[in-house]
Amino acid sequence: MRQEAGGRSRAFYRKRQSIIAAMNAIKPLPDLLISQIAAGEVVERPASVLKELVENSLDAGARQIDVELMEGGVRSIRVADDGGGIAKTELALALARHATSKIASLIDLERVASYGFRGEALASIASVARLTLTSRTIDAAHGWRIDAADLSLAPAALGGGTVIEAADLYFNTPARRKFLKQEATEYAHCDEVFRRMALARPDVAFSLAHNRSVKHRLAATDLASRARELLGEEFFAQTRVVEASAGELRLTGFAALPAYSRPGRDAQYFFVNGRFVRDKLLSHAVRQAYADILHGNRHPAYVLFLELDPAGVDVNVHPAKIEVRFREARGVHQFVFHALQRLLAAPLEQLTTVPAAAYATASGWQRQTSLAVNEPALAAFYDFVSAAGGPGIPQTEVDQETSRPEGSGLAPLGYAPYEVPHPEGSGPAPLGYALAQLHGIFILAQNAAGLVLVDMHAAHERILYERLKDALADTPPTQQLLIPALFAASETEIATAEEYAAALTRLGFEMAPAGPRELAVRAVPALLANGSIVELVRALLSDLKDFPESQVIEARRNELLATMACHGAVRARRSLSIPEMNALLRQMEATDRADQCNHGRPTWTQMTLADLDRLFLRGR
Ligand SMILES: Nc1ncnc2c1ncn2[C@@H]1O[C@H](COP(=O)(O)OP(=O)(O)OP(=O)(O)O)[C@@H](O)[C@H]1O
Ligand SMILES: [Mg+2]
Repeated sequence: MRQEAGGRSRAFYRKRQSIIAAMNAIKPLPDLLISQIAAGEVVERPASVLKELVENSLDAGARQIDVELMEGGVRSIRVADDGGGIAKTELALALARHATSKIASLIDLERVASYGFRGEALASIASVARLTLTSRTIDAAHGWRIDAADLSLAPAALGGGTVIEAADLYFNTPARRKFLKQEATEYAHCDEVFRRMALARPDVAFSLAHNRSVKHRLAATDLASRARELLGEEFFAQTRVVEASAGELRLTGFAALPAYSRPGRDAQYFFVNGRFVRDKLLSHAVRQAYADILHGNRHPAYVLFLELDPAGVDVNVHPAKIEVRFREARGVHQFVFHALQRLLAAPLEQLTTVPAAAYATASGWQRQTSLAVNEPALAAFYDFVSAAGGPGIPQTEVDQETSRPEGSGLAPLGYAPYEVPHPEGSGPAPLGYALAQLHGIFILAQNAAGLVLVDMHAAHERILYERLKDALADTPPTQQLLIPALFAASETEIATAEEYAAALTRLGFEMAPAGPRELAVRAVPALLANGSIVELVRALLSDLKDFPESQVIEARRNELLATMACHGAVRARRSLSIPEMNALLRQMEATDRADQCNHGRPTWTQMTLADLDRLFLRGR
């Protein structure tokens, strides 16, 4: 008997078809069931109810929104606002499916600026919880309350605005109720939704209470104060202000420096036209912008607002509206990437003093004392770069003059002692002048503010990296593999390899299908010949598939250079002369992103005279 995919026989499928056919004629679903099915998508858990209710309050022009939760929102969610309210005659309509005051046509939908537009949220919530709605418009003598269960109306005392209460979530759909998590977990989700909404609208006052205890009380303010309140002082001390625009696009907010990077994605807030989104395209753009300065397993922290013409973004692609689709996806990606990258790369001179204490808390901090150095590859690489006329690659002559422990087997550092070039009218060197070296690890320098401490290896690594990047604007040298690397590839991987053949060549790769399900890699960039080729190729193909070609090339090359720079940088426990140290300081000042090494660790820190005074309890 012929077997179908999955091992079932044709007879099985024939039988199943006949059972289905015999079941019933096609009938419209009852309204309640329709709503319950829709609710499955819109109202996933208490937090989604909260999101819909707060969005409605904001759409109604509320200036103050008060949220009260009981038992993680499962027992009840109550949202009270001082917005425009709903007229008595429209209360029942507000609960009806597909009834909305926010859009009236397809054209409206394409330009929608309100949070709501489907007229579906309240109906969905009412189908899975006990919902009551009390509201009073400005011209009404008193409020009215409607009970969603029977649409009965009763007069109610209310100053103005709207109060919606959703109780006993999923009381009538026990199967779903089972999926709810512990109270603490559901509350945590609600708290997160609350934070998102509060960050989206700092101009609105918010409060949140759980089991009658107040968790947040936020007065109307500006974004900076709201972000400080919700994300904490530590985040704020480590952020740069984002403010960029290009044509119709505008990006504002705060992006944390890598010193405040996080092990998880918990402090990532991206809003598109005021709507919180978790969008693949946007998070990719952000990740790329941080790629140079953040270690792989750390996540950046940010609060960002992208504004654009509503017609340029489709918000109607996800049931919870958490994903969007951009008309000009590539343009948006480029804009966000460049805006952030520029900002994070701002040179040292423009930086304010970085508080020493904050560095101590940067958990990405980890000293690398022993790293295998790939000597031949490094030498070949230097040859290549000097042949290409690359700037400032370490020279060896100076090296002989300074005493250096023998047998280190490391590529020479060779900072030429030179006069600090002071352009007319420029102030003293921001990082000051070297005093001494500490345990072969740190440079101590004196500047106008006090003491500067530099992590020698990290700083040198950063400088090398930026230089290699400059020198290698073209194709890196390729190495043919004696034995091609064969691996089982998916159809998508093979298709991508063929489609992007030209880009791969430019990156220094050569590969071709070796069978219907196999790829053969014949050449790789020389510097990667010793690495895990299959893994690298897989990652590359997957990125190529999803994102603009130029980005992939940038990202992979930079990763490669980061590794080289790390191996090429001066090791700890090497003594440097004072002029060498000064040269390093000057190069740091001239290098983009010199305040972070390639792994996102800080490269230097300042201890001001005031900091030192405090250490010795000296009043000034
Ligand atoms: N807090 C409120 N204040 C004033 N009017 C409200 C409030 N909540 C709901 N409404 C009214 O009830 C209508 C239905 O709300 P509902 O959330 O179901 O749909 P929507 O917001 O229009 O669209 P969506 O389903 O996308 O949220 C709204 O269009 C609005 O007119
Ligand atoms: Mg709504």
